[in-house]
Formats: sequence, C-alpha cells, structure tokens
Amino acid sequence: EGSESAALAELAKRRGFFFGSSEAYGGVGGFYTYGPQGAALKSNVEEAWRDRFAVQEGNLEIEAPTIMPEPVFEASGHLDGFDDMLVECAECGESHRADHLIEDNSDLEDAETLSPEEAAEKISELGLVCPSCGAELAGQEVTDFNLMFETNIGPGSTTPGYLRPETAQGIFVEFPRIKAYARNSLPFGVTQIGSAYRNEISPRKNIVRTREFTQAELEQFVDPERDEPDLSSVEDVEVLLYPITEQEKDDGDYVTTTIGEAVEEGVIANGWIGYYLGIAQEWYEHVGVDMDRFRFRQHLPGERAHYAADCWDAESEIDGDWIEIAGFAYRGDYDLSKHGEHADDDFTIFQQYDEPKTVERAVVDPDMATLGPEFGAKAADVADALEALAASDPEAFESDEVTVEVDGEVITVETDIANFSVETQTEAGEHVTPHVVEPSFGIDRTVYTLLAHAYETDEVDGEARSFLSLSPAVAPTNVGVFPLVSNVDELVDLSDDIAAELRAAGFAVVYDDSGSIGRRYRRQDEVGTPFCVTIDRDGIEGDGPTTVTIRERDTGRQVRIPADSLVETLVGLRAG
Ligand code: GAP
Repeated sequence: EGSESAALAELAKRRGFFFGSSEAYGGVGGFYTYGPQGAALKSNVEEAWRDRFAVQEGNLEIEAPTIMPEPVFEASGHLDGFDDMLVECAECGESHRADHLIEDNSDLEDAETLSPEEAAEKISELGLVCPSCGAELAGQEVTDFNLMFETNIGPGSTTPGYLRPETAQGIFVEFPRIKAYARNSLPFGVTQIGSAYRNEISPRKNIVRTREFTQAELEQFVDPERDEPDLSSVEDVEVLLYPITEQEKDDGDYVTTTIGEAVEEGVIANGWIGYYLGIAQEWYEHVGVDMDRFRFRQHLPGERAHYAADCWDAESEIDGDWIEIAGFAYRGDYDLSKHGEHADDDFTIFQQYDEPKTVERAVVDPDMATLGPEFGAKAADVADALEALAASDPEAFESDEVTVEVDGEVITVETDIANFSVETQTEAGEHVTPHVVEPSFGIDRTVYTLLAHAYETDEVDGEARSFLSLSPAVAPTNVGVFPLVSNVDELVDLSDDIAAELRAAGFAVVYDDSGSIGRRYRRQDEVGTPFCVTIDRDGIEGDGPTTVTIRERDTGRQVRIPADSLVETLVGLRAG
C-alpha cells in the first residue's frame, strides 16, 4: 500500500477510526469495525447524505431487510449475472481476482471486460504468479464466481435466501406499495441507507473493498417520455468528466465542462444523470472531498453491470490510484419490468393523460363459442391471435376471411365467426413501467476518501504534527473543552458547565483535562476536531465578563471571546 494509506491505516487504528474485525480470533478478511471516532464520522456522513438526497430533494426514505428470498435475485439477475472472475492457485489454494491481477501487472485498465477464457490467456501471456505463494498461474482455469452470500431462512428450511448485494433491490421489490405513498405519480425518488454484502474474492485497501459495507442509494423513478429534471440549480456546476468517447481515443483526456453544457451536448446522455452528478459533486465538496482529486468517469460498455444502459462513476484519488466512490447508473425499466414478470404484483404506474383520449379499438368477440367447435382445444389461442391481428391490422377484417398462425399452423377463419368490430373507447391514461436513474454511494469509500484527503502533516512550535482537516460538517467531535489546569475547582466547574451548554446546543463535545494543553490539542488534531475551547485563569479574573479561548485546528490560531457568546460563535464557525 502507498505511504498515505499506510499512515492513515496506522492512525485509524491508533485513534479509533477503524480496524480489522474479530482480531482476537485471528481476524477475517474483508470485515472492519469502526471505532468511536469512525462510527461518529460515518454516522455524520450518512446524516449529511440523508439531508441532501432524501430531505432536501423531497424523496422518500425506506428501510428494507438485508436478507431476501431467492426469487428476488432470480428476477433481478443477480443469481445469474453477479459474478467476478476467479483464478485459484494450484499450489497454495488461494483465490484471486483475475481482472485485478491482470490490471496490477499490465497497462490494461478494464480487465473486467475480458471473458474468463481471455483472462486465462492473458494470465499465461503475462506470466503472472500467485501473489500469496509465487507459484506460476499459467494454465489455470479462470471461472465466474457469484458474489452473493447465501443463507437458509428458517430452521431446517429449504428456503434459500441471500444477503442483499445492493440496497436497491429492497426498493424495487417494494415498489408496488411505495408508489401509493408517492400518490401514484411520477417522478419520485426513494432512498435507502444500509448494509450490503458481497463475498469479494480479494478484499483490499482496508475499508475500500470489504465484504460487508454501507451503501446510500437513491432510485429516481421517471417516465422517460414525460419527465425532465430541472437542471437550473446545477447547470453551472463545473465538472471534470472522462467520457467513453475520450477513453476510446489513444490520446483520450478529461473534459472540464459544466453540467448544463455536458447535457446539452449529449456528453451526458441523460438529464437525470446530469442532475445527480451536479448535486453529488457539490455534496462531496461540502463533506470535504478535495475537488482537485475528484472526477467522473463513464463506464466502458463491457464494464457496466448487467442492469445498466449507461453509468458514470464518481472517483477520488488516493495514493495515486483512482477509486470508485459512487456509481450513477441509468437502469432503464430493467428492474421493474423483471419484477413485474416474476412477481405477482403491479410494478407500473397509471399515468393519467392531461385530457382523456378517444381511441378506436379493434375488438374480436371474446366468446369462444362463436369460434365454433372446429377449433377444438385451440379455440382460445385462435381468439387471442385474432385479437392481436385486430389490433395490428384491422383492415384485414374487411375481407371474408382472415388467416392467423397458431403454434406454427396457419388457420383460416371466416370474419363473420370472428365477429370483428371497431369500438370507440375513451381512455383516461396508460400504464407505464417507470425507468430508473440510480445514484449509488459507497459510504465506507466516502469515509476513507475524507480521511485520506484530510490527512496532513506540518510543524507546530518546532514539533511535527499530523492532523485531519475534516470538514466541520462531518468531524466526529465538534469541540474539545479543556480547563487549562485540572486542580483549580473554579476552572473545572466552568469547563463542565460550558461542555454541558455546548452539548445541549447540539455539539459533539470532548472534555479533556489530562496532560499538557499541547498534548490535548494534538489528540484532537489527530481526530479532526475543528475547534478547541480553553478555559484559563485570565478568563475568570478581573472585573470584566468571563472569557474563553477558541483555537482553530488547521492554523492553530487562537481568539479570546466572551464565554456567553461561545455557542453563537461556534454555530457560525461550524456553518463556515
Ligand atoms: N445499486 C448499484 C450498485 O450497487 P455498485 O457500483 O456495485 O452499484 C455502488 O456499488 C457503490 O458501493 C460503489 O461505488 C462503492 O462505493 C460501493 N461498493 C461496492 N462494492 C463495495 C465493496 N466491496 N466494499 C466497499 N464499498 C463497495
């Protein structure tokens, strides 16, 4: 791992952001525990996401179970299509992700677009060896490995279930019910924040690729014919894009443009995707992602998930590598159509026309008996075929006979028997299967990016210090409160009161009276606390009002202010 990641992993463990889980039992790859700092940071990131993407957007938030029965994943395509390529070392038995091995050892950046056979060939051609034991991998078979964790539902049960590999399915499956809460009217968005599980072949880079992680997903349901997003709030947002068209060129490059222009010129083909790229970028900036280390990259066709017609990733740079932190997929009507086919419910929305429409409908007498006994068991199929013909080619019924094909047999029917007629009907609307635009955020990767981009070192009073310049919007602790010395009751009591007052005002406060003031500052610097308040003798002596000192983390700058304006001052500072 690079130096930034190594320093960060060390700090993360020492200060309680995250560490490998179950270490008392030897640990297990791909599972992490967030310590007190990390849990607070992650929860603040989730809260900031909820506020922006659910509350501010007026979307509906749900919480569905993490285990769902097999038919859900048959319908969604995950049972068949949610695979990664695995190569197993014949020598030590370790499994590795074939595409990662290839990418790590060649110029290829999209090895996941290879077929298993092509990947096996590439591994031989490059002479790759097992990263665990060094044995040659040439000649090893590459297979598709399904990433879902399987379980059984109920004791002694034969009902298989799966831990959800994305939170999205919980939203799609409940669509028939949720649509009522949205008053059966498009467009509307549904969000969910929660755990997702993937039995990753090679988890890596600590919390970047784990087997249990948190997603924050938004499913935007739209009528592709009628619904356009309002881009006015994001059209001027400047973005760094890497579209397919550039990636396919040898000298392909990034494009700096605005959301408005990119949508207008078709670089971003879907306005809803453009809309969400715009607000996502602003949100990432708000929570503290360094915008010089952030970009959007469009998926190459072979890279897309089985459900996606187009997809853009948000990527952040860490230690020279770009990692995917969110995906923005155009899923079309794939999901709701599939569940509509497999499940016994209505996954459409009835879209009322502005004005009822008068339409002419070709109708065939639905009464089978009129078809006569000569059609026998085929009568119902013949009636269906006649009805389809009446809808597609009503003029055919102007002659005495029509022909239809049933089970490969051409059948001639007298038009009298079909009892064909044209009826004028009034239709109030039509059933539409909504299309889905999906911004899908990895919370853990966001947390990791925030830590990596906030990690800084400098020198204070001739001493090296490392600190996290976390945004006040997400920092685990908002304020440190310190009595300068711990053996003066008056200072300790006042500090207690101030801590309590700040907590009551909604601040996350750490009270610390142990060690030198410099050490206490360093401790808070390392966990990214933006402000520390120190209470000293100067502040309580004399005739004037009580004063305290606020110190700012990144600059170390200190200002003395009246104690009774502290809350107000910190509220202002927190808001930026
Ligand atoms: N519903 C769409 C979906 O799940 P994805 O690109 O597979 O799309 C979305 O996942 C996001 O979830 C990714 O951008 C990433 O941030 C996060 N993610 C995916 N797999 C992960 C893993 N193994 N560990 C941590 N985060 C992961």
